[in-house]
Amino acid sequence: MATKEEIVAMLQKSYSMELETVMNYLANSINLDGVRAEEIKKSLAGDITEEIGHAQQLGARIKQLGGRVPGATEVQLGGQQPPPQETTDVVSVIEAVIDAEEGACAQYRKIIKACDGDDYITQDMCITLMADEEEHLTQFRGFLKEYKKG
Ligand SMILES: [Fe+2]
Ligand SMILES: [Fe+2]
Repeated sequence: MATKEEIVAMLQKSYSMELETVMNYLANSINLDGVRAEEIKKSLAGDITEEIGHAQQLGARIKQLGGRVPGATEVQLGGQQPPPQETTDVVSVIEAVIDAEEGACAQYRKIIKACDGDDYITQDMCITLMADEEEHLTQFRGFLKEYKKG
């Protein structure tokens, strides 16, 4: 069973990951060019608020567990694909989103397991967050199918 400190550290990692998605989705929702990019840009722009909401929930739980929410110089970034140089490369953006969402799900799954039989509040929160990410995953996997065709 994980200690409270270990749970906090895992939540802090998820917090960093959420903020990295916010930055990359924000950049991609602005950078992309072309008719084919419009739907993806809209979808990413909408997800930004949702991912910030995830970070807020994680931060609140970190505090409840006696931890501290990391600031800009403390978050761990760089684990995700950066926005592509080519601004019409919609497929790269979609694939990067799928990678990021899979990463988020994997980290939440880890926390859910670590909390089992002990910290039900954190576990419940991470199940809900993971459900949101699975929805994003399904949506972007669908986009990939369509965009790889044309
Ligand atoms: Fe998220
Ligand atoms: Fe997401």
